[in-house]
Amino acid sequence: MNQPFLTLAQIDEVASSIRSRTNQQPRVGLILGSGLGGLADSVQNPDIIPYSDLPYWPISTVFGHAGRLVIGTLENQPILVMQGRVHFYEGISMSQVTLPVRVMQRLGIEILMVTNAAGAIHPDYVPGDLMLITDHLNFVGMAGFNPLIGPNMEEFGQRFPDMSQAYDRALNELARKAAKENNIHLQEGVYVGLSGPSFETPADLRFLRMAGADAVGMSTVPEVTIARHGNTRVLGISGISNKANLDGNTLTTHEEVLEAGKMITPKLEKIISSVLRSL
Ligand code: HPA
Repeated sequence: MNQPFLTLAQIDEVASSIRSRTNQQPRVGLILGSGLGGLADSVQNPDIIPYSDLPYWPISTVFGHAGRLVIGTLENQPILVMQGRVHFYEGISMSQVTLPVRVMQRLGIEILMVTNAAGAIHPDYVPGDLMLITDHLNFVGMAGFNPLIGPNMEEFGQRFPDMSQAYDRALNELARKAAKENNIHLQEGVYVGLSGPSFETPADLRFLRMAGADAVGMSTVPEVTIARHGNTRVLGISGISNKANLDGNTLTTHEEVLEAGKMITPKLEKIISSVLRSL
């Protein structure tokens, strides 16, 4: 698609297309990151929509992202699950990357739960850990690729949205409670979003650590920025898939990211299910 900014009419066209394929009215949106798509299999009474059936919908070219919407219920909560997402590094505009969140907002979704696979920068994190995202560093935005650049869509929110509480404190509290109940150790920290697709050099990682980052990934931040612009509440959880390579002695691969997803998915499912039950 050549157009850098999607219009409200285009966003509404996508929302109508989804409405014509399901009678369910989701309240929660859940974005599943690399290797974490298995969570969608637990959705009850699913209406499944392949991304390729939807106009303008960005389709991931990355292995490990299924590419479909699953709309149904999880723990009796009406939910729309994105099994797979696109990334800025795939060569599309920020407006396209974040189209799904805009569509969720037009569908009336109130809460966005966003997950991702991330590399550990914090020295105590190990692969398989979960990290509650309490804040993020928007490096891609700082470099000039904030998804809100362009005409402001007043229908969603104001020109200069506040980001001081991007990750909802009440939802964070529910996630902490859910982790405790399920005996899952939940780390908490700051996620830094980079563009990728190359992994970081050891010097990049030492810099990110000094800047206050605990985990690093290539997604989430644009989606959360758009969610907050439209006043959607956000819960963010990273699945730690690998130790980031601060010393330069280990290699990072996409295969290890997907492999760690198998360890992370059952824990993530327990936390998300508990949070959904307590909403
Ligand atoms: N760096 C960036 N993105 C990632 C990583 C990483 O180490 N692991 C999973 N996504």
